[in-house]
Amino acid sequence: MLTSRSRTALVIGAVLTSLLVAAAPSSADKDRDRGRGRDAKPLRGEPLVIAHRGASGYRPEHTLAAYELGARLGADFVEPDLVSTKDGVLVARHENEISGTTDVADRPEFASRRRTKVIDGQSLTGWFTEDFTLRELRTLRAKERIPDIRQRNTIYNGRYQVPTFQEVIDLARRLSRELDREIGIYPETKHPTYFRSIGLPLEEPLVRALRRNRLDRKRSKVFVQSFETSNLKALDRKIDTPLVQLFGSKRSRPFDFVAKGDTRTYADLATPAGLREIARYADGVGPSKDYIVPRDSSGASAAPTTFVRDAHRAGLVVHPYTFRNENTFLPRELRSSGDPAAYGNAFGEYSQFYGLGVDGVFSDNPDTAVEARAAR
Ligand code: G3P
Ligand code: CA
Repeated sequence: MLTSRSRTALVIGAVLTSLLVAAAPSSADKDRDRGRGRDAKPLRGEPLVIAHRGASGYRPEHTLAAYELGARLGADFVEPDLVSTKDGVLVARHENEISGTTDVADRPEFASRRRTKVIDGQSLTGWFTEDFTLRELRTLRAKERIPDIRQRNTIYNGRYQVPTFQEVIDLARRLSRELDREIGIYPETKHPTYFRSIGLPLEEPLVRALRRNRLDRKRSKVFVQSFETSNLKALDRKIDTPLVQLFGSKRSRPFDFVAKGDTRTYADLATPAGLREIARYADGVGPSKDYIVPRDSSGASAAPTTFVRDAHRAGLVVHPYTFRNENTFLPRELRSSGDPAAYGNAFGEYSQFYGLGVDGVFSDNPDTAVEARAAR
């Protein structure tokens, strides 16, 4: 019987070994598609647990406390979403509009910074990271995004700062040493076309940070993800780090498609042909759970699709999002009651997705994901 520690060590060892094998350059690697995705086996193994925005089921998201707890609860990776400050520093926030996750609206000194902007075609009013220097942003404190669902997390409101990407990397390094297993990072570029349009591109500082920290190689325990396609294609030419194409809602389009008049939707990209195209520049896909297990009009699970099989055939690993313990995020048959904040049978959902062959899960509750994985 393997202990969870030896099991984890085996998994990490297998991943690292296979990544090292994958790092051996072939002449094809120098080609335009550089072999991306044609064989996802080196990136496959036991499903990875990715602490989504940190252990955001238990701490305000995208704080060092949330990432640290995620790693300590057994996650293989921590996931920072990245946006830019006014002075071009990458910081971890799900959105550049920060009134929902910080106390900025309560700060009289920043009242005049309130703006209305159009971000990816959507009009938003609030406070935006790109209007704050890092020094100013650091005076803010994080708060729970969904206090009605996660009331317990609100006791941590006001305790934590907005972290920089470098701090997340440093934290992962420190925890890797302390926990004696490598904690990976899984950064996402948020609104890359928008940030480039205002002169604060995300990709250049991201690449610099990865290179500075020697995380720009195939063997690095890093995945870089984006809902847009063009920036992943550009990153494919600059770094060897595995890349993951995220999928938004089926009827919507990547914003770079919208910007250049490409009418294809994410549903089009989810077809076998679309997945084969993605495999030319990416190594994996990050669909929302319903691409794999749709829900009917009552909210109950419907029959699984062929998405996982199709992606694997295209040579892509599959890391769906987002797994959460609360009833409101679960399919109807796994809910424990009508209380949206109460926990339902999250184990049942993990078990189904692991059984369908996913290669990783983005989870707000990494301990649940790890325990479900161990029980397979
Ligand atoms: O990046 C995977 C998942 O996090 C995508 O959704 O909106 O939580 O960033 P979101
Ligand atoms: Ca994300």
